Amino acid sequence: MSFYINEKTGADEAGAGTQEKPFQTPAFALYSAETDAEPKLFVFKEADNEYQEISASALKKARKGCDGLKKKAAKAKEQELKKQQQQADNAAKQMAALNIKIEEDKALPAAQKARINQSYSKVGERVKVSGWIHRLRSNKKVVFIVLRDGSGFLQSVLTGDLAIAQQTLDLTIESTVTLYGTVTKVPEGKSAPGGVELVVDYYEIVGLAPSGDDAFTNKIAEGADPSLLLDQRHLTLRGETLSAVMKVRASLMKSIRRVFEEESLTEVTPPCMVQTQVEGGSTLFKLDYYGEEAYLTQSSQLYLETCLPALGDVYCIQESFRAEKSHTRRHLSEYTHIEAELAFLTFDDLLDHIERVICKTVQYILEDPVAGPLVKQLNPDFVAPQYPFKRLEYKDAIEWLKEHGIKNEEGEEFQFGDDIAEAAERKMTDTIGVPILLTKFPAEIKSFYMPRCKDDNRVTESVDVLMPTVGEITGGSMRINTEEELLAGFKREGIDPKAYYWFIDQRKYGTCPHGGYGLGTERILAWLCDRFTVRDCSLYPRFSGRCKP
Ligand code: 4AD
Repeated sequence: MSFYINEKTGADEAGAGTQEKPFQTPAFALYSAETDAEPKLFVFKEADNEYQEISASALKKARKGCDGLKKKAAKAKEQELKKQQQQADNAAKQMAALNIKIEEDKALPAAQKARINQSYSKVGERVKVSGWIHRLRSNKKVVFIVLRDGSGFLQSVLTGDLAIAQQTLDLTIESTVTLYGTVTKVPEGKSAPGGVELVVDYYEIVGLAPSGDDAFTNKIAEGADPSLLLDQRHLTLRGETLSAVMKVRASLMKSIRRVFEEESLTEVTPPCMVQTQVEGGSTLFKLDYYGEEAYLTQSSQLYLETCLPALGDVYCIQESFRAEKSHTRRHLSEYTHIEAELAFLTFDDLLDHIERVICKTVQYILEDPVAGPLVKQLNPDFVAPQYPFKRLEYKDAIEWLKEHGIKNEEGEEFQFGDDIAEAAERKMTDTIGVPILLTKFPAEIKSFYMPRCKDDNRVTESVDVLMPTVGEITGGSMRINTEEELLAGFKREGIDPKAYYWFIDQRKYGTCPHGGYGLGTERILAWLCDRFTVRDCSLYPRFSGRCKP
């Protein structure tokens, strides 16, 4: 047999080895011979324009090349066979998996319903726990699920038929399931929430979450744009960090209510739809109230003042609304305002009370078995504030800012009378590094209701509590308690006193020295949980450009 080779015009796979359709390489020509006898090879020589028998050295090289081709072909065949085998195995496994019926073994002791945090103390017992699949991992024979139900996380393990059943292979993150199994202690040296693991013997699917493009992890990819994450807030809330902040938030509410109880304050719920302003007209949200102009409340202070003669010292936890144009990390359009009002006290009494409320509230949060560890986790360096706080008068703060070369909003040296805006306030607070009660602000930069100090008519009995990393978390003051002085305050701020008749009446029908304050819930949380912005401390934050979902 003879084969013809033309290295220029020939082709190995498509060639036939004839003079008309020559092969390209001598190695392929040898490889394509189907008999044991080695074919004769003729190679086209361009110089002589004819086919000539292959030289001995070229033939030797061709034989080597032919061996290589044979080995390659054998390997490819082997792989193909393996692949076919695997496909057959997979198909068999899938059939088997499809045929596995997950059924409860009725011979087992009845499972007791438990929340995850209750299951931690049920070592050795058979329980049933419902929740969301927070994490899902499998190797060939074992499936690990971390279940979440809001009360905690439960590491769970599925083995045997449970692990290979098609139903299990189809599970997705955020699907809801009820797991049945025995609570076991995790082995020495291993850790899991609550120190336990659920060895699952049966489970039911309550609702399967989507897979593929719509899968939960695609919806809220890590590192996604904050605005996209806010569009998916209903899903991001399920994350470990945000849900931890919300739990600390719940504990803050509970703890501060406990402190108010200890301080003998009564809780009230003033209206949110009002026709008066408290903190300046520029941040009022207006609304059409059956044809009349009304506003969403900026602060419940004025209403709290009216409760003093009826109920004594009072507080409320209520949403306040501010049409803040500025996009800062500590301003929201709607925030949860914790406000208190106290009668028959001095400015110093008020400052002492504020310190006590803040310190005790933080103490109770840290002592809370749920929130305490979460604060540690979110803010490992957090140091609980100690009273008394550093007290700094506004006039001394201005000197401090000057000495430290910190400029005002116009980029000039601070002057008495300047507002200490966010950037300068934060720099000062962070440099001093401890909680500060900043007191006695000039009347002109504060609200109409603040009384002037007896010893310095330029300034008022007012206070801001400043915390490192966030700045102002609380604003408060004594209140003007004579009608005449209050009317002068309205005049200074250009407010028509007509709508405030009920507030003015407090000064007519038995006036008293009184004062109060408002705490920004989200700001306290940003400080306590070390969050960059108050937006991370609100369930569904509202700020300009965002009123959904
Ligand atoms: O200093 P502010 O404006 O004081 C009042 O509203 C008083 N009438 C309260 C009172 O005496 N009852 O607000 C009080 C606190 C601030 O210290 C801050 O923590 C928070 O409310 N706050 C805001 N939090 C988030 N977003 C905003 N836009 C806020 N404005 C004020």
